[in-house]
Amino acid sequence: MSHQESPILFSRLGQEIASPIIVDLMARALANPNLLSLAAGFTDNVTLPRELVRRYATELTQEGLANEPLQYGHNQGRQRLRELSCKAIATHPGEKVQAFDPSSMFITNGSQQALYLSIQAICDPGDIVLVEEPSYFVCLEMLKGLGLRPLGIPCDDTGGVLADGLAERLKQLDAAGQRSKVKAIYLVSYFCNPSSRSLSASEKRSVARVLLDAGYQIPVIEDAAYRELYFDAPHPAPSIISMPEFDPFPKLYLGTYTKPFATGLKIGYGYCTHSEWRDKILCIKGHQDFGSAHFTQAIIERVLDAGHYSGHLSGVQKHYARKAQILDRTLHESDLKDVGWNWATPKGGLILWLRAPTGTDLRMESNFCQGCIERGVLYVPGDLCFSSGKPWHCARLSSGALPEDKLREAAELFVAQALHQK
Ligand SMILES: Cc1ncc(COP(=O)(O)O)c(C=O)c1O
Repeated sequence: MSHQESPILFSRLGQEIASPIIVDLMARALANPNLLSLAAGFTDNVTLPRELVRRYATELTQEGLANEPLQYGHNQGRQRLRELSCKAIATHPGEKVQAFDPSSMFITNGSQQALYLSIQAICDPGDIVLVEEPSYFVCLEMLKGLGLRPLGIPCDDTGGVLADGLAERLKQLDAAGQRSKVKAIYLVSYFCNPSSRSLSASEKRSVARVLLDAGYQIPVIEDAAYRELYFDAPHPAPSIISMPEFDPFPKLYLGTYTKPFATGLKIGYGYCTHSEWRDKILCIKGHQDFGSAHFTQAIIERVLDAGHYSGHLSGVQKHYARKAQILDRTLHESDLKDVGWNWATPKGGLILWLRAPTGTDLRMESNFCQGCIERGVLYVPGDLCFSSGKPWHCARLSSGALPEDKLREAAELFVAQALHQK
């Protein structure tokens, strides 16, 4: 507070809110180009669809267009974009085309907004949201910022949900009289940020069965932000929307055009099967912005309508596959495995999840992290991705943003620190 400002009595949120780590990581990456960031979730500038955006931005700025894209649009988002987005989801393996109805979809400022709105509609401070261990750290921070309690579902070392562990956790919640506090379960089930793992159909079925057996018919939020960014093949599991095991649950599926298309257009969506939940989400969105940017929606709509999206995607998939391979190979070519580090080779997405030997401290304030920063490389400490802040021996590396030579260099710097500290 500077001396001329008079004090404000802030709300609980205003008092407790701190700058999100993601914002800090992005600012650091943008401010210091010499710091090689394996942390920030940027996409690669060379994949950005300049030509397509330029073409349709020009077309869309002509006068006399129906549904004028430089004008406000609908709170729920453009009808045609919702139709095309439904079609796009339905092309994934195992999806039931007839399951997708554009009236259940709403367009948002990235899928992050859809996540935030959906949580606001169902949770009060003190409520619990079940999450994978590890989970998307921005979501964990957001939940905590809202005064909620993200609670980890026991997972194996790779991030696979353990059905027995979930059953046990629900029993513990019952025993503690917390059942009514549990408002949702959040799953990042395709090329998860951060584990890079995808949930199989049978793992998802087990989650549905365990919840149902325990009488927890709570909203299920499936975050599919990276689903389209597969390398060799799409992940075969259908979404919760098409799986009959999830029929008894209110369901929300989140998708985005940021990572696979243009991050800066910041358009994503939610597909919500529960009409009342969806209506509440839309009311909150109405209060917040009464509709996402009409112009950027219209650009994406044109790209999809003209059939350019899948061609763009296949280029992006190859690009990120190559970059993931560079990161993976650089780590493999080092002695990291020999000194007890482990990771799974990603099959999609932008993230590689590393596990150091148990007991290693990779937190932001650790010598390891400071050592990395001194060497000129940044990563996301894995403890941020666990609801309890533990364990401390994991790291999230993103292969998304850096050019290939810088990516290799960043991985080498990270390895040098790991070997230095073994
Ligand atoms: C798992 C996951 N979900 C959601 C988002 C939000 O993405 P956006 O709001 O850009 O669609 C991200 C972004 O990094 C993510 O990693």
